Amino acid sequence: MYAYDEIDQTLVDERVAEFRDQVQRRLSGELTEDEFKPLRLMNGVYLQLHAYMFRVAIPYGTLSSAQLRKLAHVARKYDRGYGHFTTRQNIQFNWIALKDLPDALADLAEVGIHAMQTSGNCTRNVTADQWGGVAPDEVEDPRVWAEILRQHTALHPEFSFLPRKFKFAITASDHDRAAIKVHDIGLRLIRNEQGETGFEVLVGGGLGRSPFIGKSIKPFVRGRDILSYVEAILRVYNQYGRRDNIYKARIKILVHELGIEKFAAEVEQAWQEVAEGPLTLDDEMIEDIRSRFVYPAYEKLPAMPDELRAAAGDARFEAWRRNSVAPHREPGYAIVTLSLKPVGGPPGDATADQIDAIADLADKYSFGEIRVGHEQNLALPHVARRDLPALWAALDALGVATPNVNLVSDIIACPGLDYCSLANARSIPIAQELTRRFANHETANLIGRLHVNISGCINACGHHHVGHIGILGVEKNDQEFYQITIGGRADEDARVGDLIGPAVPYAEVADVVEDIVEAYLALREKPEELFVDTVKRIGVEPFKERVYATR
Ligand code: HEM
Ligand code: SF4
Repeated sequence: MYAYDEIDQTLVDERVAEFRDQVQRRLSGELTEDEFKPLRLMNGVYLQLHAYMFRVAIPYGTLSSAQLRKLAHVARKYDRGYGHFTTRQNIQFNWIALKDLPDALADLAEVGIHAMQTSGNCTRNVTADQWGGVAPDEVEDPRVWAEILRQHTALHPEFSFLPRKFKFAITASDHDRAAIKVHDIGLRLIRNEQGETGFEVLVGGGLGRSPFIGKSIKPFVRGRDILSYVEAILRVYNQYGRRDNIYKARIKILVHELGIEKFAAEVEQAWQEVAEGPLTLDDEMIEDIRSRFVYPAYEKLPAMPDELRAAAGDARFEAWRRNSVAPHREPGYAIVTLSLKPVGGPPGDATADQIDAIADLADKYSFGEIRVGHEQNLALPHVARRDLPALWAALDALGVATPNVNLVSDIIACPGLDYCSLANARSIPIAQELTRRFANHETANLIGRLHVNISGCINACGHHHVGHIGILGVEKNDQEFYQITIGGRADEDARVGDLIGPAVPYAEVADVVEDIVEAYLALREKPEELFVDTVKRIGVEPFKERVYATR
């Protein structure tokens, strides 16, 4: 966990006081909704279909049990008893009353949580691999660098009014769990031949109306230069990014229009002005941040303890262990993913009671720490392998041990028409229906890794472009229709999926997904060939035929 200092705490507390005053003035009528809007957006407050929506940041997805309990408290006291984890390591509350917002923020501030820069045209929550610090395959903990960037970009005067929102993501492993290629700036922590750590920098990725995969702008930027280098990118964007057309304002459009070579040359020039200046990080500064990440006092434990051997006879436990337990850098420990995708449930939702119980389990089994991933699931990052059977029983009782992580029912979905004022169509009920269709674990396992992503409109909050199967809600004659894409992916080989044909009505979406899956099972070369690889090998045509032959 990262230990915040008084500077962080003072900043957070002052912002709460400022917002309390702004809300007071809105409630008294002194401010109109239009005047209030930019102020509330600075604190993560949107106005949605039914109520204000409140988005809270979880930097690099790391939470202490005390912080998690406070989120449960906010859900219970000010909302309807649940929260919604999103794809950018945030949590959203959909039913909060304006008058309660300052109190909710004040309660969260007690544990160092805030909602600053979770909306607006600024640098948003810096996200990172949710397994940072524990993944066996990482170069080093990417959260150290996410924290350096977070501190630098928080309330940065030059970058508080960018042409559009701006998102960073960082990974430190070859296997990208942070979707860095669909972010404005994606950073891949690597070690060069001389043993120095630094970053491959990608720029101009993003989804929404015009999806782009990020392009590599520089193969290696030393760690000490990372702030000055990203500052140079932001300066170029701030200066040349389009402010005349909201649809063309993101950095991906600038990169696309200039071309990556020209854009890189501009950045290089801007970098000359700031490189080797005050933004250069010295080892002491990096060490200071690194030293604030406190790691648990791991014990030397066996990788195959008796408890685990004894539980291996239980088929349900084994199914969960194979699906939801991942290796840890310490052999006696494991990373456990908690599925927030129960059969028939809205993806990413957790009730206040569940959240509290997960905090208790984190205290008991994971040194009080929890992680939030971009797939709308949670993880306990430091579980002793001997505790896995006991933990599983507790998680199962809570309804967060569905063994479907990375399988067809581990669906990412935006709130869609159930909450969102921009939606064309519903997302959540489609996800619920699909989880019912694919509830059978054996079948889902047979299908293997398959990500279904759903967005209720072109803004792509559900990352539909990079879903192995992507579902996008569109409106036709006042009715909900859905475009289906296949072959997208959000990992190190990220690509945007291909459309398979005309949009289909709401009632047919689940059938279409079933048809696609059946086609895949018939067409794959061998069981190990993943859905995305089959699509890559044979293209969309065979799937198209299967889906549209009878429609
Ligand atoms: C109901 C409240 C929400 C509203 C009004 C909203 C609004 C938007 C808008 C307008 C965009 C397009 C931005 C652009 O292209 O410049 C967007 C993008 C996005 N939103 Fe949301 N969103 C909401 C909820 C969510 C939720 C629940 C998630 C996660 C499940 C999410 C994650 C994202 C992501 C990942 C993008 C794509 C960013 C990109 O790469 O361009 N949002 N959102
Ligand atoms: S994709 Fe569209 S419908 Fe879904 S949350 Fe985003 S803006 Fe709303």
